[in-house]
Amino acid sequence: MAKRKNQIESYAESGQAQRVGIFGASGCGKTTKARELIKGLNRVIFFEPLADDVRRLQKDGYSVICTFPELCRQIRLKFSRGFKLVYFPAVGNEEQQLSDISNWLMNIQSGFGFSHAAHITLVVDELDLSFPTGASLKNPKNGFKNLCCRGRHTGIHIVGLSQRMHLIDNVFRANCSAVYLFRHSEPADIDVGLKILGREYRQTFAGLDNFQYVYKSGNKIFVHR
Ligand SMILES: Nc1ncnc2c1ncn2[C@@H]1O[C@H](COP(=O)(O)OP(=O)(O)OP(=O)(O)O)[C@@H](O)[C@H]1O
Ligand SMILES: [Mg+2]
Repeated sequence: MAKRKNQIESYAESGQAQRVGIFGASGCGKTTKARELIKGLNRVIFFEPLADDVRRLQKDGYSVICTFPELCRQIRLKFSRGFKLVYFPAVGNEEQQLSDISNWLMNIQSGFGFSHAAHITLVVDELDLSFPTGASLKNPKNGFKNLCCRGRHTGIHIVGLSQRMHLIDNVFRANCSAVYLFRHSEPADIDVGLKILGREYRQTFAGLDNFQYVYKSGNKIFVHR
């Protein structure tokens, strides 16, 4: 039987890279959903600031990398056969590290579409640490901003996760091709969620339990309970 393609693989066939946002309160199931989405992909970098989740990813077969030069070395070494790397950033310097990684990925993928067709997926957990509100205004050359806006044609998929939609730079949200909205508790975040979904989803959104979500992609909206 043919292997069922996951959402990112199917989207890749359309030629455009996928940008997925996964948002929701603590413990609602975001990281688990991201791990499910990337299952079976063979070039993945998981930017993970939480040690507990780094350990979970190791169980999924990910190798832990703690420095940018080592990340570059591993990707070059393993590019043709694939890689599953979890990057554990230094505390307090997440923004710069994500920007550097994004710039470097854009560079190595600049030949995508003519000299090679290899997709890469970058997953960023706790996005409010590495791409907080105002990051793109503070530094217009922020590499992750560039990746969100212009990386679509370089075969780099992005999956971004945060507890607080309100606290991440809206350049990411504005470029999402799909979002998973789990249970939220903060009024400011609920407000952002309703702007994405429409006010008619107020009751559905407010009634979500842990592990339940509303998925939106284009005009398609789906409630998972
Ligand atoms: N669909 C599910 N059904 C049952 N248990 C789940 C499901 N999704 C996640 N869990 C469990 O719930 C716990 C929290 O999940 P997870 O770490 O994915 O949440 P999170 O939203 O990423 O949390 P945080 O905001 O703290 O990072 C984990 O122990 C996980 O195994
Ligand atoms: Mg998590």
